[in-house]
Amino acid sequence: MGDQQVVPARTWTHRWTFVLAAAGSAIGLGNLWKFPYMAGVNGGGAFVLAYLCFIAAVGVPIMMAEVALGRHGRHSPITTMSELAKTSQASRWWGVSGWISAVSSMCILSFYSVIAGWAVYYTIGMFSGTFDHITPEQADASFEALTLSPLRMTVWHSVFMVLTGIIVARGVHKGLESSLRIIMPSLFVLLVVLLGYSVMYSGHFMEGVRFLLEFHPEDLTGQALLAALGHAFFSLSVGMGAIMAYGVYMPKKESIASTVAVVASLDTAIALVAGLIIFPLTFSQGMEPNQGPELMFVTLTAVFSSMPAGQFFGGLFFLLVSIAALTSSISMVEPLVTWLAERFAIKRAVGTTAYCLLAWLLGLGTVMSFNEWSDKLFLGRTFFETVDFLSANITLPLGGLLIAIFASWVMKRSLIYKELNLSTGGFNVWRALCRVVAPLAVLVIFTENFLG
Ligand code: TRP
Repeated sequence: MGDQQVVPARTWTHRWTFVLAAAGSAIGLGNLWKFPYMAGVNGGGAFVLAYLCFIAAVGVPIMMAEVALGRHGRHSPITTMSELAKTSQASRWWGVSGWISAVSSMCILSFYSVIAGWAVYYTIGMFSGTFDHITPEQADASFEALTLSPLRMTVWHSVFMVLTGIIVARGVHKGLESSLRIIMPSLFVLLVVLLGYSVMYSGHFMEGVRFLLEFHPEDLTGQALLAALGHAFFSLSVGMGAIMAYGVYMPKKESIASTVAVVASLDTAIALVAGLIIFPLTFSQGMEPNQGPELMFVTLTAVFSSMPAGQFFGGLFFLLVSIAALTSSISMVEPLVTWLAERFAIKRAVGTTAYCLLAWLLGLGTVMSFNEWSDKLFLGRTFFETVDFLSANITLPLGGLLIAIFASWVMKRSLIYKELNLSTGGFNVWRALCRVVAPLAVLVIFTENFLG
């Protein structure tokens, strides 16, 4: 009997497909755009170290739990959680985690699409030569011109949202595998080329390295810790069921631990490389590292404009960023749309349209927060900052916490043990991380920030 026949129809046939899809979800704007700017705003080294610790001690164990739950339940995350709660004779309240996920994914998608829209705009601008031979000041000014125009931002936000919707409505896994096979390695190669450029020509490489890795304990404020924790969830795509939804398709015989290790390492490596590219170049342009969301766009546009074949490399870079964002954004929509289809027998196309439309509308708030509403603050934050904070720093860690507690305390030990298929020692480490370390990290940091 061929291998194919023992694999259920809905399973991806190859381990690397799961790795690709999960990496496609994890690697996106979080690595290339958000990580460098957050490291810049939070002072560099201390933030990076905290982020790395949270990835290893909190993000990875929860990611393993998500894959295990998804593969075990073989349904959308919300259905899986409520069915597993039933079979484990746990409270129906576990269903609440589904709503937390819905808030997370809707909020994240809403601003993600706006930022990805910038990347689409820059792709076209680069290839068409708009940014050729411009000074850093002009790069800054053209970014400002984009963000000061609600209309232009809305156009690109809409383009990106429609692309996301079309892919999800047609069923994700059809085209995903073959396109990811090309996109991910291309992104990797281009990043290595840019890293080489940064090492050889920025003239400030070591300064960038020092900024990214030098540890200043005074930067480790409660706020920076919360940002690092939230970003560990955001960057790995854990805490709202995106990885759980992909776990459904993972073949039973594959090892969850080693697969998750591969995905998390790739994700972390790409974020660090992005930082090592961006900071030396930022310094070489005489710019500040703490610019905020424009960091990647302004710095790299200025660099590409003076680089040999910069128009080509720049266009390619922003194209790959846009596609990496697309393979992430579809993983925000997929779990909820699958659930709508399961629960209410709503057609995928209808569910996707409704969901993307809502996220698009919410995204208009982010669009406006860069111009008309830039001085409208809620608790000191603009609309964009509020939506980002609420999702990445509150609902994602909360969702992740529930997943960790569910998998390690509530679910029958024998079920999760079998699914994870670790050595007893390995399983105990995983369980201690999910039972104690992850909840403690989230609770301590929440308390420090919200009650302290
Ligand atoms: N991880 C992605 C990035 O770094 C963003 C992302 C995709 C995400 N799916 C998610 C974040 C689900 C949280 C939850 O760009």
